[in-house]
Amino acid sequence: MKLIVNGKTHEVDVEDDMPLLWVLRDELGITGPKYGCGIAQCGACTVHVDGISVRSCQLAAADVDGEITTIEGLGNPLALHAVQEAWMEHQVAQCGYCQSGQIMQAASFLALNPAPTDDQIDAAMSGNLCRCGTYPRIRAAVKTAASRL
Ligand code: FES
Ligand code: FES
Repeated sequence: MKLIVNGKTHEVDVEDDMPLLWVLRDELGITGPKYGCGIAQCGACTVHVDGISVRSCQLAAADVDGEITTIEGLGNPLALHAVQEAWMEHQVAQCGYCQSGQIMQAASFLALNPAPTDDQIDAAMSGNLCRCGTYPRIRAAVKTAASRL
């Protein structure tokens, strides 16, 4: 099958039911999306399909209909995404394991709702778990990013 990831077309020879997360990490070596739970409950594997956040552990690669973006393609060192810049300013990450999923979720959310309330931020981010408890800084960073988008 063909997959477009971060603007580049890839051909992969995998089973139709292989989750996108496995294709990204094991076939393409794109390791920003993380494996956390495998059952769409933690958000560590979040990527975008046509700008919408999806849980790549529960989406079969064959069912992808659109262009995939991972954390590697969200910005670049010369032009970070506003969410990435805000994350750095607020020093959100602790261990970092959940953070690519958090950032991808936040970026997708802000594209749809660029002026969210605190409650809307909390609701939008509630499916992304952080065992290090970075939630207050996540909220602050989302608000900072929103102010610049
Ligand atoms: S690994 Fe996909 S939601 Fe947890
Ligand atoms: S920063 Fe450690 S799990 Fe979120």
